[in-house]
Amino acid sequence: MNKFIKAGVIGHPIAHSKSPLIHNKWITEHNLSGEYTAIDVPCETLEEKVKNLIEDGYAGFNVTVPHKVAIIQLCSEIDDLAKAVGAVNTVIIKDGKLIGTNTDVYGFVQNILDDHASFPLHKGPALVLGAGGAARAVVQGLTAMNVPQILIANRTRSNADELLKYAKAPEKIKIIPWENRCDKEILQNINILVNTTSLGMSGKNPLEMDLEHLPRTALVNDIVYAPLYTDLLKQAQKRGNPIVTGIGMLLHQARPAFHSWYGVIPTVTPDFKMKVLE
Ligand code: ATR
Repeated sequence: MNKFIKAGVIGHPIAHSKSPLIHNKWITEHNLSGEYTAIDVPCETLEEKVKNLIEDGYAGFNVTVPHKVAIIQLCSEIDDLAKAVGAVNTVIIKDGKLIGTNTDVYGFVQNILDDHASFPLHKGPALVLGAGGAARAVVQGLTAMNVPQILIANRTRSNADELLKYAKAPEKIKIIPWENRCDKEILQNINILVNTTSLGMSGKNPLEMDLEHLPRTALVNDIVYAPLYTDLLKQAQKRGNPIVTGIGMLLHQARPAFHSWYGVIPTVTPDFKMKVLE
């Protein structure tokens, strides 16, 4: 009889999270014994709830908004990836201690490779919209994939400056004004465009992005996955640009986390992507 392994995701709010669906499907698929639950953790209860998870024998948990930075204080150790991103999205509980890591960089990179493994990312600059936690992971990923220059456009300049502090190769990064993101001088050289803001997500403001000056060969990725085909991706697709949707990043970031608790590295199939979106 396999040991019953408990894991979950902490956040607030948490009801919308797709992580239980993903992890529980993998538990069933691999005939494992365990359960992955969504745990609502308001900010002021973080320390107490985490203590409860340790006492309840959890193998670990994922961390989502708004605890990705606050959880660092409770970790005994965080690895280089979490340090580089400045946030923890996965915790492994070992001997009652928390070990923090970040799997978002892996998720971003694998999602691009899944659909466009041979895209020549080294051949030109990237434009990243946004400078929050997700943008930090994306910038690390682009750097790891040898993108020669990364332009960042963010509404709040000081947040983009903050991102620079975490960058592994700050000399490759250039911050441009948010208002200039569609300018010909900027867009005409871009080889990959990534939206990391929440704009364009269901229920949020639209992302105003005119792609007129973007080369038709440029890859366009939106990390928003609800809706799967955002207005940005639809516009890109219509003019013939290759696109990558956001659902793969969510699924791929879950794989190393699942592996660390359940000892199995699950696969992501196109069929599984569609099931998660249903
Ligand atoms: P995450 O961790 O998911 O990246 P976040 O840290 O809250 O979330 O970052 C959200 C990003 O969306 C930020 O870059 C934010 O810009 P600011 O730094 O100016 O806040 C961007 N964003 C959110 N709403 C926006 C809006 N209405 N216009 C432009 N950018 C917006």
